[in-house]
Amino acid sequence: MTSKPILRVLAGEAVWPPPVWLMRQAGRYLPEYRAIKDSSGGFIARCTTPDLATEITLQPIRRFAMDAAILFSDILILPWALGQDVAFKDGVGPVLKPIRSAAGVEQLAFSRVAEATAPVLETVRRVRAALPGPCTLIGFAGAPFTVACYMVEGGGSRDFPETRSMAFGDPELFGRLMGVLVASTIDYLSAQIEAGAEVVMLFDTWAGMLSPSQFKRHVIAPAKAIVEALNARHPGVPVIGFPRLAGMYVGQYAEQTGVDAVALDTGTDPARAAASLPESVAVQGNLDPIALLAGGAALREETSSIVDALAGRPHIFNLGHGILPQTNPDHVAELVAFLRNR
Ligand code: CP3
Repeated sequence: MTSKPILRVLAGEAVWPPPVWLMRQAGRYLPEYRAIKDSSGGFIARCTTPDLATEITLQPIRRFAMDAAILFSDILILPWALGQDVAFKDGVGPVLKPIRSAAGVEQLAFSRVAEATAPVLETVRRVRAALPGPCTLIGFAGAPFTVACYMVEGGGSRDFPETRSMAFGDPELFGRLMGVLVASTIDYLSAQIEAGAEVVMLFDTWAGMLSPSQFKRHVIAPAKAIVEALNARHPGVPVIGFPRLAGMYVGQYAEQTGVDAVALDTGTDPARAAASLPESVAVQGNLDPIALLAGGAALREETSSIVDALAGRPHIFNLGHGILPQTNPDHVAELVAFLRNR
């Protein structure tokens, strides 16, 4: 039996008070992160230098004693490791050389991933060795559809028209890209588990953009393939799925993919979503990052309503999307104290 609160919740236990970590808990809202950012190379260098990535991963653990550490990395490290040109530009976000043809998909080199991600796996080993007893280490990857969105579009977008056009207009090509991503994500997450990740999370930020039939094909089916392969290779290691904006489909997503927990976005009613999930599936979420930015009474009220709605269920407290860079770190400390002293 484990005594780590997050692992107990993911095994189906309703732990009180609910353990907490926050998406993007390492990053620009922390002055200690900004100090490293100003004195180090680019974002990819920070992700692939174990000294820096280990320190950045541990910063929010030291400051707030979170119940989980999430590896400091990015979902776009996988396309970068597959050989796509990826850059992170300040004030712009990720910029990739778009993949729109068979030749582009064929250039992706599965064989590069192990070597290119070796420093990330070294970070996983170091973080695991350095974590305080009750803290769980979470590894992650982007879900294939969301990663494909950035790979095809060449960066962020409001609605990813190129990607969705490829999915409808050239399903064979899009299917091949998704196939490369499913296979490489399985290997990459397996390697993170072998290096010491105790839980893995799949981020499907753009899942909610798809029609019902495309959701089944490009969100549920790939997540199911990844969960099944990980369960076979690493029985007992829980998987958290985050099908953002999936709305009424979260129940179907949980049932059909076999994830151990579903992360809810800000707009989802936690009690209703929980009622649509199998009993054993844990819920993670789902405070509005703006409530954390605001702090004070709004933060306490929103937090209480989520915690009360999910009382008696396995629940990991988190945000419904990542922390905003303008957030005052004191609000995070207040949130953690409020949760633990209820
Ligand atoms: O949560 C954590 O603390 C772990 C690290 C983490 C990052 N990105 C660090 C990061 C995780 C889990 C991610 C996931 C991620 N990355 C997602 C899925 C979750 C979500 O937020 O929807 C997506 C879509 C990305 C892609 C990405 N990376 C974008 C769109 C951007 C630019 C926007 C921004 O915030 O700057 C990034 C850059 C990025 N990833 C930063 C950090 C800390 C900021 C860059 C910097 O600090 O220089």
